Amino acid sequence: MIERIDELRSEAEAAIAAADSTAALEELRVRYLGRKAELPNLLRGVAQLPPEQRGQVGRAANQARQALEGLIETRTDELEASELDTRLAQDRIDLTLPGEPPQPIGRLHLLTATWRELEDVFVGLGFTVVEGPEVETVHYNFDALNHSATHPARDRTDTFYIRPPEASGRSQDAGLDAPRSYPSDVVLRTHTSPMQIRAMEAHPPPLYVVIPGRTYRRDNDATHTPMFHQVEGLAVDEDITLADLKGTLLAFARAVFGAERDVRLRPHFFPFTEPSVEVDVSCFQCNGTGYLKDGSRCNICKGEGWLEILGAGEVDPNVYSYVDDDRYDPEKVQGFAWGLGIERVAMLKHGVTDLRLFYDNDLRFLEQFG
Ligand code: DAH
Repeated sequence: MIERIDELRSEAEAAIAAADSTAALEELRVRYLGRKAELPNLLRGVAQLPPEQRGQVGRAANQARQALEGLIETRTDELEASELDTRLAQDRIDLTLPGEPPQPIGRLHLLTATWRELEDVFVGLGFTVVEGPEVETVHYNFDALNHSATHPARDRTDTFYIRPPEASGRSQDAGLDAPRSYPSDVVLRTHTSPMQIRAMEAHPPPLYVVIPGRTYRRDNDATHTPMFHQVEGLAVDEDITLADLKGTLLAFARAVFGAERDVRLRPHFFPFTEPSVEVDVSCFQCNGTGYLKDGSRCNICKGEGWLEILGAGEVDPNVYSYVDDDRYDPEKVQGFAWGLGIERVAMLKHGVTDLRLFYDNDLRFLEQFG
């Protein structure tokens, strides 16, 4: 009987060593150690043996069972680890592969594309791109840009004032319309122009910068959203004249709207430029005639032949006195500046009729561009 136990044990040991999967091991466990297997049967029969054999046979069978259990356990652990490795290797996903079914890759939002296009044009003309804070002080947004104390843009019906920290915690009803300590001296910038002052404070002349970014006003209709985008430009150097402004804007108009375009300047008023102008570009649809080939009125320029695109002017000498440094001496340097709306350029160029389309994120709109 002892021999049979040894025989079973070595047979099972060889089979366990040769098993190549956890499933095969489970089969071996059932075959050698399961309820109907020979070894456990032997063990159960030990009680029927003559007393002098019981100890020896019982011990040998028990040892064999324990040894086999141990072997199966160790081998199962080994195989489980390598099976897991194989599974992981097979399941590896290449996240860089296109999806199933393949999805079209995205595109730049029309405003982002226009923003970049404008940057490219001005960088090509020698300007440097800089950006600045959207939360701005009244000093930079209005005062240093020569706005009078009563300028209407300062009104809190026009501009988002930031509630000062001491006011915000004070009362539940201190909402935007509550008659509290407004205006405070912090605003969401109403234009990118405050960066003119910051740029001059950071760099001595000559200075050639463009400043793209978000701006905020309390307006909301088909042609105004509370948040919109501008590109500011500022050039300060010696012997700068209005002709330099016109040449720069003509190059911009031709790069964006076509090589045939012309620009015209109309007198206007801005607090921080003198003289100030509004700039029109000749209509790219009707070539400035106001009429289409079939004789109908041009729907883009409404028959005018010109499209208003931006405000500009020669930097008011007074503005230099607000620059917190005497490096800008109006006796030595002159400058020109402009501010244009990115949405406006995109709307004109692509025939977008409602500004709010830019922010609705309707794919049927977005997919038409780029
Ligand atoms: N900041 C003006 C606005 O938001 C636009 C503007 C006009 C900017 C004339 C300029 C400028 O730099 O010279 O309406």
